[in-house]
Amino acid sequence: MIHSYKGGSGKTIISYNLARVFAEHGKKVLLIEGDLDGPVFANNFRTLNPSKFINFYLKEPKNLETYIVRNNPFDMIFASSEFAHQNLMRNRDYESLLQNILDVKKEIHTLDYDIVIIDLSPGVNYLAIASVVLADHIVLALRPDQNSFEGFKILLDRVYANTIPSGEKNFHVIINQVPDLSGFDEIINEWKIIIKYEYPFLQSIHKIPFSPPSSLKILQNEVLLDDDDPISEKLEEIAKSINA
Ligand SMILES: Nc1ncnc2c1ncn2[C@@H]1O[C@H](COP(=O)(O)OP(=O)(O)O)[C@@H](O)[C@H]1O
Ligand SMILES: [Mg+2]
Repeated sequence: MIHSYKGGSGKTIISYNLARVFAEHGKKVLLIEGDLDGPVFANNFRTLNPSKFINFYLKEPKNLETYIVRNNPFDMIFASSEFAHQNLMRNRDYESLLQNILDVKKEIHTLDYDIVIIDLSPGVNYLAIASVVLADHIVLALRPDQNSFEGFKILLDRVYANTIPSGEKNFHVIINQVPDLSGFDEIINEWKIIIKYEYPFLQSIHKIPFSPPSSLKILQNEVLLDDDDPISEKLEEIAKSINA
């Protein structure tokens, strides 16, 4: 699962391209859109026509397979962008998901994917909490700004605190969109030292540069980046450290 405290940290672009990298490594990958507050998959993959949306699965968590849109290089499950999620989702729906979460986990295992990635909404929300139960690896993205850094610590101190002692979850950090400008590296290196000291259980910490050419491609809706794109090169490393 890919999560962050603040929006715009790159979760979605990381999710797409991590999915692509794993697929290129020969893995069978399912990418689930878990940002019900701001669905974007349908906009980025306009040729695909999902007939069922994850929103409805949360109400009645069964037959996940029927929600899958098969595609190359990876399969996807979409969230609905047609309905404001407030109209659809009630706490009751999430409670049913949480009650059934172990069944959901079993169901995901029967689907025969090597890797399942969940691209979440920022902040603390039910789906993130449910995803923690499902996930083996938790990837936290943050941007080089103070609010993102404080938010990142809030997630680890409050949301993930209960899962940390078990040691069953692998945590990875991506500091994304770091400009190539003197001053940034110094602060990011300080952050890395603080992170390693305060959260010694974290498996890996990565930095992805801010890449204007990649940003332009994404703006042109080329969301699956080339192998030699600077973001892709970093995601290759990250895929290796996840080593799933
Ligand atoms: N490393 C990067 N370099 C340049 N632009 C980036 C980078 N990572 C993300 N972006 C841009 O930041 C914006 C937000 O990314 P997105 O993946 O939608 O974030 P989130 O899903 O966390 O809200 C996108 O427009 C994307 O093009
Ligand atoms: Mg997103």
